[in-house]
Amino acid sequence: DRFVVAIDGPSGSGKSSTARGVAERMGYAYLDTGAMYRAATWLVLNSDVDAAEQPLVAKLIAEADFGIGTDPKAPVFTVNGLDVTQAIREPQISASVSKVATNLDVRRMLIARQQEIIAAAAPGIVAEGRDITTVVAPDAPVRVLLVADPAARVARRQTELGGQVTISDVRDQVIRRDRDDSTVAQFEAAAPGVTVIDSTDLTLAQVIDRICDLIDT
Ligand code: CDP
Repeated sequence: DRFVVAIDGPSGSGKSSTARGVAERMGYAYLDTGAMYRAATWLVLNSDVDAAEQPLVAKLIAEADFGIGTDPKAPVFTVNGLDVTQAIREPQISASVSKVATNLDVRRMLIARQQEIIAAAAPGIVAEGRDITTVVAPDAPVRVLLVADPAARVARRQTELGGQVTISDVRDQVIRRDRDDSTVAQFEAAAPGVTVIDSTDLTLAQVIDRICDLIDT
């Protein structure tokens, strides 16, 4: 039977590394929904459409071809055949992604695509993002909200960025995106039936263990 693990959490909560680790250990596929919003944002920034022009942005995205890799070891993303796997991690994308992700027509399209990918996955899939436990896969047998103290999230994000940015710049970015994303998801409270895991004082391996325990029971 297809098994679905849904993981939500804010920026720097460790959800990508966690979701990949769980998928690898279980032999499941992996869906990074944030990467889909980033790929859509890459397309907008590389077009002559202004990100604020909501109907034009939706049309541009509707007509594009997105390749969405689901291999937890190396997920590859393409836009109209072009590999954007690296490009979607650039700071310009992070700075504009909330604007594209709050476009409701864009969300409708990407959520529909996410649900198709989840429905087609075998033997299982770990999907992570901001609205997976609530909107994309509310019926998933395992649903997790991954949280961490803001200071821990800022420190992790700085490590991910290779220490090339100052801690105060990273703090500004993380706090700003929490605010910009607040219409998409608020993480103060988990939806009913969702297991909250606070990763502040846990290692990555410990968080992966806890989620795999939820799958086994
Ligand atoms: O890695 P990080 O948590 O910083 O971001 P991400 O997971 O790559 O997601 C990037 C952005 O996409 C988020 O800041 C949201 O604006 C948007 N997003 C969303 O709206 N819904 C999702 N399910 C996933 C991401």
